[in-house]
Amino acid sequence: MDIDPLEKKWLYVALGMIALFLGAIVLTAWIGGVYPPSNVETIDPARLHLSEEFAEDQLGVKLQPDGSLKVVMVAGRYGFYPRRITVPANTPITFRFASLDVLHGVHLPMTNMSTMIVPGYVSEVTTKFPIPGDYPMLCNEYCGLGHDFMWSRVTVVDKQTWERNLGVRP
Ligand code: CUA
Repeated sequence: MDIDPLEKKWLYVALGMIALFLGAIVLTAWIGGVYPPSNVETIDPARLHLSEEFAEDQLGVKLQPDGSLKVVMVAGRYGFYPRRITVPANTPITFRFASLDVLHGVHLPMTNMSTMIVPGYVSEVTTKFPIPGDYPMLCNEYCGLGHDFMWSRVTVVDKQTWERNLGVRP
């Protein structure tokens, strides 16, 4: 088979571009600490209030015996509950989310905290926030008319301040 030299040249350009784009995806995922989900845990969205972990009085920030934190939150139209949490900087935090209605996504801009929250499944993300500040916790999956207003607040404070004001159930 005979390929025109010009056609061959463009073939190489196209292959080179594909390699470049794939390389950019792999590199940015690696640098940004982006991982695919690794566990599948199911939960009945209609019975969250009856579950041990996602009942209303069990939500929020919890100190674990090893010094890490667990944050249990429910996503529902239109907010992440509790609406406001305070966590320390530079501490491993494991977020666990469940949806009480439809598909939501959660994202903290300027951090690598991001995951989909699919009804029927528990979404778990472990991360650390190096920089103290106020972060909006935004929904990034269209979930209805109030989607644009679906956000809660995460305040990251330095570790000493957080320990001093320990507003946390052990
Ligand atoms: Cu929840 Cu968009």
